[in-house]
Amino acid sequence: MSAYPQLFRPLDLPGVQLPNRILMGSMHTGLEARPDGMPRLAAFYAERAKGGAALIATGGFSPNDAGELSAHRAQMSTKEDAERHKPVPRAVHDAGGRIVLQILHSGRYGFHQDIVAPSALKSGINPRPPRELAAPEIEQTIGDFVRAAVLAQVAGYDGVEIMGSEGYLITQFLALRTNQRKDDWGGSLENRMRFALEIVRQTRAATGPHFIIVFRISALDLVEGGLSGAETVQLAKAIERAGATLLNTGIGWHEARIPTIAQAVPRAGFAWAARRIREAVKIPVIASNRINAPEIAEDILARGDADMVSLARAMLSDADFANKSKAGDRAGINICIACNQACLDHYFIGQPASCVVNPRAGRETSLVFIPVKSKKKIAVVGGGPAGLSCAAVAAERGHEVTLFERAAELGGQFNLAKKIPGKQEFAESVAYYGERLRRAGARVLLNHPATRAELAQFDEVVLATGIVPRKPAIPGLDHRSVTGYVDLLSGRAQAGRNVVILGAGGIGFDVALYLLERSSRAALEFKEFNRHWGISEDSSVSGGLSLEGAEKPHENLKITMLKRSTTPFGSTLGRTTGWVHRTELLRNGVDMIKGVEYRKIDDAGVHIAAEGKETLIVADTVIVCAGQDSFVPFSREAKNLHLIGGAKEAGELDAKRAMLEGAELAARL
Ligand SMILES: Cc1cc2nc3c(=O)[nH]c(=O)nc-3n(C[C@H](O)[C@H](O)[C@H](O)COP(=O)(O)O)c2cc1C
Ligand code: SF4
Repeated sequence: MSAYPQLFRPLDLPGVQLPNRILMGSMHTGLEARPDGMPRLAAFYAERAKGGAALIATGGFSPNDAGELSAHRAQMSTKEDAERHKPVPRAVHDAGGRIVLQILHSGRYGFHQDIVAPSALKSGINPRPPRELAAPEIEQTIGDFVRAAVLAQVAGYDGVEIMGSEGYLITQFLALRTNQRKDDWGGSLENRMRFALEIVRQTRAATGPHFIIVFRISALDLVEGGLSGAETVQLAKAIERAGATLLNTGIGWHEARIPTIAQAVPRAGFAWAARRIREAVKIPVIASNRINAPEIAEDILARGDADMVSLARAMLSDADFANKSKAGDRAGINICIACNQACLDHYFIGQPASCVVNPRAGRETSLVFIPVKSKKKIAVVGGGPAGLSCAAVAAERGHEVTLFERAAELGGQFNLAKKIPGKQEFAESVAYYGERLRRAGARVLLNHPATRAELAQFDEVVLATGIVPRKPAIPGLDHRSVTGYVDLLSGRAQAGRNVVILGAGGIGFDVALYLLERSSRAALEFKEFNRHWGISEDSSVSGGLSLEGAEKPHENLKITMLKRSTTPFGSTLGRTTGWVHRTELLRNGVDMIKGVEYRKIDDAGVHIAAEGKETLIVADTVIVCAGQDSFVPFSREAKNLHLIGGAKEAGELDAKRAMLEGAELAARL
């Protein structure tokens, strides 16, 4: 029997049996609209089907022009589209899996010229106001959804997922926040539900009894004027009656100011909201968000919160998640650390989605690790993200790899990152890569700085020696109040009550969060998280927002962040996570001053000039987070020498680039 019996119980649906309870959640990969997108998507999904996911949902495809997310065309609206899609379901079926096409109409969240919505109300996250849909256009849009489903059937998909959450068009019809129509599509909840219900009802009628129709319902809107839990339950029941096969859940509108997928969200932090729906319907309900490990999924199912689990990013970080879980190989799973850096953040910069800890994700056809014909002796110096990635792939390809690490443990900068509240997930990556090295037979030498003589024995030498923190030229930097972030985070130095942080890049923010944990605590359990961010479990309140608001911060610590540049604070942080950190710091009264000239540091604190004024920032502790320089302890000249990660380029700490460079180099060696 599997170590996770609930997860690997088959699930009977009309006309089909799923072998387990794992849905690969919908992710727009950025490949959808590319000319070479479909073959790449086919390879991407086939790997996940082969890896054991029972059912896969594609990223969102629009049923018409108005519903596009951006100006790039990712649609299912013509016979040609159906033809173009055919390789995707075929590849998944060949790999033994099943796949549904997600139909997503962006409504007022579209970033193009002609965006539409139930009412002409602009969203706070889109500068462009939508045009109000005329009643005949609403009927037409329903027809477009149905046409997309029929075309999906023609293309060979096993079903569709109708996207009714996250604040897209269907949700915009449901909520008073965005639907202020006076006709039959607005006003009462019955009227507002009609759009969703007609889509499901007509799709079922057009596609027959065995076509899988997943409806992704917004289990929690997390915006003012959103549905209450009780209204959501009413909707769920009506969707069931309209003919849906499965109810997947989504959490929070995109305009919500509460984290829903970042590391700050506890694992399985929203499963309770799925349970509320499950208790009201008979069709299977799927829990979603921050389910990244088999034991977490198993607990959700065992508690009865849901019948299935959706894993989206966890399927980027490990295509074989399901098979490894089934085999009880927990240590062999590459856990998603919820950093968003290579997946969701990529969406906003127009790059295909990948994964920091699994650079092959999205590169299935280009980054291929082929077993080597002639074995080389390879030294990898440094066991941080770049070195781990390189050493693991090189050893798995069949090379004889020795990893030199001068510290007592593997992990490098990941070991500092895991000390930050909400970033504990980094420990998973270090453990996983250590395990891969062990299984691939790499020799790992800890507490062992490599010497020139040792390196002379190897065919190839990879320097993944990382960075050293930079010391800015400020008079008084040697004052006893001054400490480096490495000393602070590794527990060698303590901070007082008046702290000044010099620098406001990723590390400056991390340090501030680390210090605040002692005053405001990390939210690691869902009830604590809900209190912290002002989420209500009371099903009578609109949008699931607590009437009392978010927890008040403690006031026994004063932090001031300073930086020389005049760019906004947090502008170098991830698009989808930076605002969470900024919000947390501002709520805790952290002062942020930019455009600073440093004068000196002394017993009184940090003397600065800002906005033409000389000022003293009182401080008993000054923490330097002023960037870093590459650390390359050997000559860069040797022919067989390769530099990767921070050793190659310091800048902002960048685990994504480091791990990709490590894997790419190892694929070539
Ligand atoms: C890169 C990326 C793209 C996404 N695109 C979609 C999408 O097209 N449709 C959708 O319903 N959800 C989309 N999501 C949200 C996921 O389905 C899921 O709700 C979210 O990632 C939280 O679940 P997880 O913790 O399992 O990743 C996307 C998420 C990511 C990371
Ligand atoms: S990039 Fe980060 S959040 Fe995205 S899948 Fe990989 S580990 Fe998870």
